[in-house]
Amino acid sequence: MTTNSGANAENSENTAGTMYEALGEDFFRRLVGGFYKQVRDDDLIGPMYPEDDFEGAEDRLRWFLVQYWGGPQTFSERRGAPMLRRRHFPFPIGMKEAERWLDLMSTSLDQFTEDELLPAQRDALWNHMQRVAYMMINQPDDHPGIRPQGGSLM
Ligand code: HEM
Repeated sequence: MTTNSGANAENSENTAGTMYEALGEDFFRRLVGGFYKQVRDDDLIGPMYPEDDFEGAEDRLRWFLVQYWGGPQTFSERRGAPMLRRRHFPFPIGMKEAERWLDLMSTSLDQFTEDELLPAQRDALWNHMQRVAYMMINQPDDHPGIRPQGGSLM
């Protein structure tokens, strides 16, 4: 039975503290580290990231997740209000890019055992990431099915 409510309602079934308290800083460091290790070589979304500032990008994502899950407010202190959708406008993100981001994050989540990350915690993280990723989409899908085929009206 859970009585959690408010911002952390989704976070777990049996802890009163935040996800950050339960998982710790090192968890978020490993999660984001595992994600960025793949981003560097990713053909689709890799080129969007600043080649000379991967470490900075890694910090920014980690600060954001730590803050969202109840840890220190470093993101807001250094970057201001999250406004994530607006911050992603410079990058063309369609369904494919969102799904690639999620694939890389899912692979990074795979590094954790069930002892390190309880299924309920994994679900909470994953739900949030999916929600945000689809919110970042700022480009229409390709709709090959409704494109004129061959381009001739005959
Ligand atoms: C949907 C696919 C996504 C793509 C292609 C994408 C791409 C990018 C790129 C290219 C940057 C700039 C890197 C930098 O210099 O910091 C960035 C920044 C960032 N992204 Fe994403 N992102 C995606 C989804 C997400 C999601 C799901 C989250 C959160 C759960 C997220 C959180 C952030 C944060 C916090 C920053 C740093 C913002 C700042 O401080 O300026 N992104 N993203």
